[in-house]
Amino acid sequence: MLELKHISYAVTEGGAEQTILNDVSVTIPDGQLVVFTGPNGGGKTTLAKVIMGLVTPTSGQVVYNGRDITALSITERARLGVSYGFQQPPRFKGITVRDLLTVASGDERLTKDKCCAYLTQVGLCANDYLDREVDASLSGGEVKRIEIATLLARGSKLMIFDEPEAGIDLWSFTRLTETFEELHRARSATMVIISHQERIIRLADEIVVLGGGEVRYRGSADEVFPLIMQDTLGSCPVLTRKEAANR
Ligand SMILES: Nc1ncnc2c1ncn2[C@@H]1O[C@H](COP(=O)(O)OP(=O)(O)OP(=O)(O)O)[C@@H](O)[C@H]1O
Ligand SMILES: [Mg+2]
Repeated sequence: MLELKHISYAVTEGGAEQTILNDVSVTIPDGQLVVFTGPNGGGKTTLAKVIMGLVTPTSGQVVYNGRDITALSITERARLGVSYGFQQPPRFKGITVRDLLTVASGDERLTKDKCCAYLTQVGLCANDYLDREVDASLSGGEVKRIEIATLLARGSKLMIFDEPEAGIDLWSFTRLTETFEELHRARSATMVIISHQERIIRLADEIVVLGGGEVRYRGSADEVFPLIMQDTLGSCPVLTRKEAANR
C-alpha cells in the first residue's frame, strides 16, 4: 500500500514562496489503478516525483508498505519496487533499445522474444527497434513507448506513468491501454497513471483530480467526470459569462 500523508512542497522564487503541493493525502491499496488528472500545472508530475524520490517534499510523508520512505534515494526506492516513466523521457546516446530492456529486466540473457513481447505491448516491432540507439534519431512517441516498455520489463510492484499517451498515435495508444488493462486485470502491480485521456481514466479504480496543488476531487469515473466538466467551464471567466448570458 502506498500512503501519501499531508504532502506539501514549496519553492522560493525571486524571494517569494510558491506552494506547488498543499497538504495532499492519498492512499493507494496494492493492485489498484489510480489516475491522477487535472489542469496543467496542477501538481501531478511533482507529486509523482515525490513518490519516486526525485523531489523531496517540504513536509509530509511517503509511506510504502508501512515503511516511511520519504528520506530514501531514488535507487533505494527502485530496489523496493517503485518505478517512474517520465512525462518527457531522457534519451541515451550509445545505448540500444535491447541494452535498456536488458538492464531494466535484470536478466543479462534477455532473449529477443522477450524483448519483442515488451515492445509489442507498446505497439512497436522489435525487428525495427532492438538495435537502435535511444538517441535523438528516435521520435518523441517512439522514445516514450520504449520507456514504457522498460517499465514493463522491470516488472515493478508500483509503476508510475506520467502521461503515457503524450505524443503516441491512436493505434499504439489503443494497444497501450489494452496493456494497462491486462496488467490491471492480473493485479500484478499497483499503477499510478497521470493522464488526461478518457480511455485511461475509465480504467481507473479511483481518480484523483489535482488542481492548484490540492486534491480537488476523488472518486470513480462516473462520480468525477461531471465535476471535471463543471470545473472546465468554471475556470474560464469568458466562458462562464457566456454560459450565464445564454441562460
Ligand atoms: N522547481 C520548480 N520551481 C518553480 N516552479 C515549479 C517547480 N516545479 C514545478 N513548478 C510549478 O509547479 C506547478 C506544478 O507543476 P507540475 O509539473 O507538477 O504540473 P502538472 O500537473 O504535471 O502539469 P501538466 O499537466 O502540464 O504536466 C507548475 O506551475 C510548475 O511550473
Ligand atoms: Mg506533468
